[in-house]
Amino acid sequence: MAVRYCVLALLACLVVGGARAALPTLAKPGGPSIIEGLGDIAKLDQTTDFATVLAVGYVIGGASNFTFYNPDTMQTTVQTGKFKSWQCADANGTFNAIVELTTLTNGTQTAKTVCMFGEVYIIQQQFSWVQSETACPTQLPIDGYYTNTLYSLPQGATFECGDGGGDGEMSSSTDVGGPSPGMSTTSMTTDSFGVPPTSF
Ligand SMILES: *[C@@H]1O[C@H](CO)[C@@H](O)[C@H](O)[C@H]1NC(C)=O
Ligand SMILES: *[C@@H]1O[C@H](CO)[C@@H](O)[C@H](O)[C@H]1NC(C)=O
Ligand SMILES: *[C@@H]1O[C@H](CO)[C@@H](O)[C@H](O)[C@H]1NC(C)=O
Repeated sequence: MAVRYCVLALLACLVVGGARAALPTLAKPGGPSIIEGLGDIAKLDQTTDFATVLAVGYVIGGASNFTFYNPDTMQTTVQTGKFKSWQCADANGTFNAIVELTTLTNGTQTAKTVCMFGEVYIIQQQFSWVQSETACPTQLPIDGYYTNTLYSLPQGATFECGDGGGDGEMSSSTDVGGPSPGMSTTSMTTDSFGVPPTSF
């Protein structure tokens, strides 16, 4: 009886709350060590092929701190993150991570927990990612993902989940990771890609 009550109550919650599921705790503590160090966050405009750097910062000891700059308002936004858990995802070079994010912009602080999906390109010293508050993404969309350049990646670094397949060239303004040619990018339905899209 109690079990049945709980199930019914849960269903009611899901209907009322818009089906917000709790994010899982993943297999390993913290975050992947390959993303540690100084870095930036860039976004590629698929139409113009122009990459814009949105933020600079670092990940140290599973804690991130990135400062975004909005040239229109000349305001900065600081987003800090705590990597809670992570694990390799299915495809070579990919991972999921649960991250607690705190965003401070113009004196207002907001917090959220996301599941990040990242694909690492070791030769390019980059990884591309999306994130969602409601589920763990399983692949990158064709558009709308972010790419971090990993400035502190040591030479000969390896990633325990493999390599997403870099093209062998160093990073440049038109080379910001993303889905490899031929990769299926269907069924991407996350509602929250990284930083607030309206302010950046
Ligand atoms: C993040 O960096 C900003 C400035 O760069 C600093 O003021 C802030 O204290 C840092 N936050 C954390 C949690 O380290
Ligand atoms: C930032 O906050 C101040 C004080 O609340 C406000 O006057 C200003 O309009 C805000 N600026 C932006 C760009 O939101
Ligand atoms: C996975 O990545 C590793 C490391 O780069 C590579 O040696 C291996 O061939 C890749 N495997 C597949 C199936 O692509």
